[in-house]
Amino acid sequence: MENDTKLSPLQGLEDRVAVVTGGSRGIGRAIARELALQGAAVAVNYTANASAAASVVGEIERDDGQAMAIQADVSDRAAVEVMIQAAVQRFGGVDILVNNAGIDVASSVLDTTDADWERIFAVNARGCFLCTQIAAQVMINAGGGGRIINISSLNARLGWIARAAYSASKGAMEAFTRCCARDLGPHRITVNAVAPGAIRTEIWGDTLTSEAEKAQAERVALGHIGEPEDIAGIVVFLASSAARFITGEVILVDGGRGTCDYLPTEHALEDKMYPQI
Ligand SMILES: NC(=O)c1ccc[n+]([C@@H]2O[C@H](COP(=O)([O-])OP(=O)(O)OC[C@H]3O[C@@H](n4cnc5c(N)ncnc54)[C@H](OP(=O)(O)O)[C@@H]3O)[C@@H](O)[C@H]2O)c1
Repeated sequence: MENDTKLSPLQGLEDRVAVVTGGSRGIGRAIARELALQGAAVAVNYTANASAAASVVGEIERDDGQAMAIQADVSDRAAVEVMIQAAVQRFGGVDILVNNAGIDVASSVLDTTDADWERIFAVNARGCFLCTQIAAQVMINAGGGGRIINISSLNARLGWIARAAYSASKGAMEAFTRCCARDLGPHRITVNAVAPGAIRTEIWGDTLTSEAEKAQAERVALGHIGEPEDIAGIVVFLASSAARFITGEVILVDGGRGTCDYLPTEHALEDKMYPQI
């Protein structure tokens, strides 16, 4: 990674190697494809759906990019070590890590089980820690420099109904981001987070009905929910030379949803989105 303070044209990501956790679908897929379009070789991580990951690799290769699929549960240290080593062996190093893999469970704090809490924290918080620690060591061993980008959520800063465990895990990720920026800054590794608002992906399960989407869209300044590609651009920016002096930051990418105070009908709308609660 560069350490050049002169003004220069925005550099692409040629010769960079990126690992995108949860890169097989949704936001991770868009990030993997966009990083590859900018020239990075991309390791596309998944945990369960090998064919989805293979199809992202196929899409990247059809665009003349380089990619590989790597199965690993990010909450498992041994699996993460194998994943990072596989990327090093295939592409020669790791320059960019995107901690995108995440899970969500909709339940009131009153109904959240110990198992729900622990699984959400295992994937969303411990997974981010493990991937960061292991990838950062590879970056340092290679002489330092690198980019780590954590995919948080608007939920880390809003008191959302039925999202205590998920939101707490993303709050943990944001605090972790700031601390890692300090620990890894001396090694020229930047650590930032991107906090998406509502983005159309499978994480919503069957709760993103047209009525629920309309309710979400009404609270977004730009009038609609986001698409996975709306998150990919900021990740590419944070991975680029243009972002070399940004670290420890959380960037909200929500179409202006975070500017909106709760509407009087908020609870009624949420009841329609999560009828099981
Ligand atoms: N969509 C939104 O509205 C939204 C808003 C704010 C933040 N986010 C955050 O954005 C990130 C991506 O969300 P998404 O909506 O794109 O989700 P998604 O469509 O459900 O995709 C999740 C991805 O994570 C992978 N994954 C899940 N558990 C994993 C594990 N233990 N180890 C490795 N990979 C795992 C999945 O792979 P398999 O299919 O193989 O399991 C899949 O590739 C998450 O961190 C989420 O919290 C999403």
